[in-house]
Amino acid sequence: MSKKAVVTGAAGFIGSHLCERLLREGYRVTGIDCFTDYYDPARKREHIRFLLGDQRFNLVEENINTCDLRGLLDGAESVFHLAAQAGVRRSWGSEFTHYLDSNILATQRLLEAMRGREGIRLIYSSSSSVYGETRELPMREDHRLRPLSPYGATKLSGEHLCELYHANFGLSYAALRYFTVYGPRQRPDMAFSRFITAAFRGDTIEIYGDGKQTRDFTFVSDAVEANCLAARYAGSERIFNIGGGSRVSVLKVLDILRGQTGRELRIEFTERARGDVLDTWADTSRARTELGFSPSISLEEGMGREIDWYRERLGDSSGR
Ligand code: UGA
Repeated sequence: MSKKAVVTGAAGFIGSHLCERLLREGYRVTGIDCFTDYYDPARKREHIRFLLGDQRFNLVEENINTCDLRGLLDGAESVFHLAAQAGVRRSWGSEFTHYLDSNILATQRLLEAMRGREGIRLIYSSSSSVYGETRELPMREDHRLRPLSPYGATKLSGEHLCELYHANFGLSYAALRYFTVYGPRQRPDMAFSRFITAAFRGDTIEIYGDGKQTRDFTFVSDAVEANCLAARYAGSERIFNIGGGSRVSVLKVLDILRGQTGRELRIEFTERARGDVLDTWADTSRARTELGFSPSISLEEGMGREIDWYRERLGDSSGR
């Protein structure tokens, strides 16, 4: 019988790409997703529509906090935990309760259900936002962690929970700290999605701050590859930075967008967003040495692919 993987957040941006890859590798995949309305659930259904015809893909439309996880985990050797309340800038105020439920409680519930099982491994999706604002660049896994956003604090709590289940019960896990993942199916609230859509529609692009902030942008297939490598890894490291090796400013992103779409961009600079750090930059030497991770998609190529995906979605053929 083929290997079984469980993917939480299976209909999300990274989750749907991961399911596709695992099926290609011959896994049976149980995808869990409760289709929250953080963004249009119809968009998530579109992400996985083509997977539903595959008999090896089982979609479970349930909330991790209420469903019977034990049965779903039976026979699984890898659990990829991508379900989360995402978004750095929206995690303030009354919204925080969703971050608490989806990022901390759900992770704890999953860990409880995994505890005591033999031969099962958790791949936890963490975030560069656990580092917070720092002058120590590039960011290394053993640097001081001081999240600047409530979102970052919940992702770090998730890491702590994984570690304490490991320490107490020997649970096998890896935590992947992704650095701003982009590509086709990217969440609509993220920068590239917003910029590309605005460019095609002739809308104004809103830049938070002066645009000189930098991000180590990571193409989605590289993040997916990291998940697959981490599932196979048998060494002793548990936390890995996963960066695309494309650290540029937001202004540079706009230049590339202008070049690739041939559009004049309407840009408005607004206030810096609370919770947003100025810079991220991943030191990926640990992932390289231990996992054999090496990002393969350059920013120009990856942006081209996301632009093409949006061009098709938005019905635009004149962008080039
Ligand atoms: C992204 C994801 O949204 C998080 O879920 C993830 O955990 C995080 O990466 C991470 O690396 O850990 P972020 O870096 O804010 O967070 O990603 P984008 O939304 O793509 O923003 C990139 C930059 O563009 C930020 O500096 C942001 O301030 C800026 N931006 C974004 C704008 O100037 N205008 C916008 O309309 C959107």
